[in-house]
Amino acid sequence: MKVKRKLTGRNALAGLLLLCLAATAQAQDNDNERMQWFSDAKLGIFIHWGIYAVNGIDESWSFFNEQISYDDYMKQLEGFTASGYDPQLWVDLIKGSGARYAVLTSKHHDGVALWDTKLSKLSVVDATPAKRDLIRPFVEDLRKAGLKVGLYYSLLDWSHPDYPNKTKSIKRYTSDSLRWERFVTFDFDQITELSNNFRPDLYWFDGDWEQSAERWKAPELRKMILDFNPSAIINSRLAGYGDYATPEQGLPTHRPADRYWELCMTINDSWGYQGRDTNYKSPSEVIRIFAKCIGMGGNLLLDIGPMADGTIPEQQVEVLKELGRWTTKHAPAIYGTVAGLPDGCFAGPTSMSRDSTVVYLFFPGNAGGELMLEGVKSRITKAVVVGNGTSLEVKEYLRPSWSSHAGVYFIKVPEEVLDEQMTVVSLTLDGKLQME
Ligand code: GLC
Repeated sequence: MKVKRKLTGRNALAGLLLLCLAATAQAQDNDNERMQWFSDAKLGIFIHWGIYAVNGIDESWSFFNEQISYDDYMKQLEGFTASGYDPQLWVDLIKGSGARYAVLTSKHHDGVALWDTKLSKLSVVDATPAKRDLIRPFVEDLRKAGLKVGLYYSLLDWSHPDYPNKTKSIKRYTSDSLRWERFVTFDFDQITELSNNFRPDLYWFDGDWEQSAERWKAPELRKMILDFNPSAIINSRLAGYGDYATPEQGLPTHRPADRYWELCMTINDSWGYQGRDTNYKSPSEVIRIFAKCIGMGGNLLLDIGPMADGTIPEQQVEVLKELGRWTTKHAPAIYGTVAGLPDGCFAGPTSMSRDSTVVYLFFPGNAGGELMLEGVKSRITKAVVVGNGTSLEVKEYLRPSWSSHAGVYFIKVPEEVLDEQMTVVSLTLDGKLQME
């Protein structure tokens, strides 16, 4: 009897453990499903649009770092007209670039809301000559175009009377739990407005570094968002309660440990519009960086900065257009792919079909006339220039019939099939990828 009871107890424990494991696996499945569109999308366009475009100065940081007084910074409100704002044109440009989602700054650290918030007077509707909600028409046009909607929201708000600091040296208070409570409630309420008005697919938080997860009530905020929309995605800048990592400007050299990540990068050296900044990356530079992100299984969130009237500067338009030509031509190697071969197999980025039967090799220039591929044991049944269709001859060396090691593949790519920015060759394998 005693033995039996003991066994039953053990069985119950094992059963509980299995249940837990099943629940974890289920949660993991749900997460994978939730993250799928993001992981397939590869390219997003980030838009920093705010009153800082009026003078063409650093977004919010210029007054925080006391390069300009707070009052002078806020004078820019008077010049923010949005008079030439054409959201449909923005969306055409974004879609044309090959991006599958966009992230617009709904409110930067300066606290100026781009939508008709009922919780503060500091919005483009109430405080600028633009006098209207600038987010709504953009979100509507994005949705019509089949693009996902991301909204950037700064958790910290240096303008809010209940936020502890205003600039790097002006502190409003050091500890005052009542005021802090009021501030967090304000954040939650504004985020609720964003949810109700726009139902974003992606919440892109920023500015979490000034407070702890506990102070931001990060788990509660995450829960609130997911209760509202169970398929929403949240970036990492919610004090550790997000879904994916956001390296900024620095391109990782190796595949990051995070399952999901997105490099956010400026098109020149500024997030917002700054006329003096002419240090634009060329289309070829942007494409090479983008290819590296794809090859390491990540996304690129390329930032543009429209002017105060809503015009997107010509240099930015040009980069997006050329990016669009390239992404359209090479779509199969980009969308829905996963990270490619490990380092050392090929001198350039590689991506792979999700079922790992097709490998894509990316290379600028003519790659010395012949591509060289190491460490791949699978047989290559077909090599084709993506977006061009030319079949290529594949030669294999260093692989006698008795050897179980991978050989070395050489693939000659004729000059006339090369892309002006970056060429892509697809290799169809005789099954799932087998590595040395
Ligand atoms: C930084 C900056 C901010 C910018 C953001 C974009 O966190 O604070 O100005 O909006 O990066 O990733």
